[in-house]
Amino acid sequence: MSIGVFDSGVGGLSVHHVLVDRLPRADFIYLADQAHTPYGGRTGAEIVELTRAGCERLFDKGASLVILACNTASAIALRRLQHDWLPGYRKALGRPVNVLGIIVPTIEAATGLPWQHEAERRGETIEKLDLLGIFCTPATAASRVYEIEIDKRREDVAVFCEPCPELAGLIEKGAGAVELAMVVERHVEALRARLGRHPDRAILGCTHYEIVADMFRAALPPGTPLIHQPKATADAIEAYLARHPEYDPGTGGTRRFLTTGTPGLQSGLVETFWGAPLVFDAA
Ligand code: DGL
Repeated sequence: MSIGVFDSGVGGLSVHHVLVDRLPRADFIYLADQAHTPYGGRTGAEIVELTRAGCERLFDKGASLVILACNTASAIALRRLQHDWLPGYRKALGRPVNVLGIIVPTIEAATGLPWQHEAERRGETIEKLDLLGIFCTPATAASRVYEIEIDKRREDVAVFCEPCPELAGLIEKGAGAVELAMVVERHVEALRARLGRHPDRAILGCTHYEIVADMFRAALPPGTPLIHQPKATADAIEAYLARHPEYDPGTGGTRRFLTTGTPGLQSGLVETFWGAPLVFDAA
């Protein structure tokens, strides 16, 4: 058995990277749905169906647990798949399988509180409002998942999402540094203009953006804390596997990289991020 990691494209590699470091003996299969990337401008129904198909492919190839290393899929599809699809699929398959997302660990990291926590509404005056900026896809922003879930837990944190419609597609195409930096700077400035100041903290709420994290860092004021989803996710998955021995991660330490798109060598941008050339096989 193995752990499946799913994204619309190369963004989930940022999560995969940290997961593999954390669980070196586990067997991993990474699936990039590059035939349909980017997901961020798609309808909810499309995102649900594409995510379901990706999970099914990974389970067919022996995954026991699939990690949606994609905010868009986690925000739009995860709950629906867990309710409407997984119970029947699990029964038909006759073995334990599950799908987990990356939003819950990110919200836990952003609030410093466990997911189960709900704030008591005391109506006290808040001395200082912590402005949290989230750079994400249009679909994730439209879901309002970060605003809703953080607001339930922390009255002193105000969330502002900045959708970056073109960014994941450009990263997928392996665009050049100058073009990418201009797009990143434009969105950082758009958020600053909307808030009247830069946010106190920021989340790169699309896994693709981790690939250009240094550009966000350069565009934001020095020292602005960035909450890193890959680390938050790896912490949560490691703890989850320890609690759930029924999901077998394997022990061979194998790594497979599959794409629904054109197989072959990934872009120079991905190579720089990954630290070595990376070849995807046909899914
Ligand atoms: N990497 C994904 C995310 O975290 C999806 C980006 C896209 O396909 O638009 O949202």
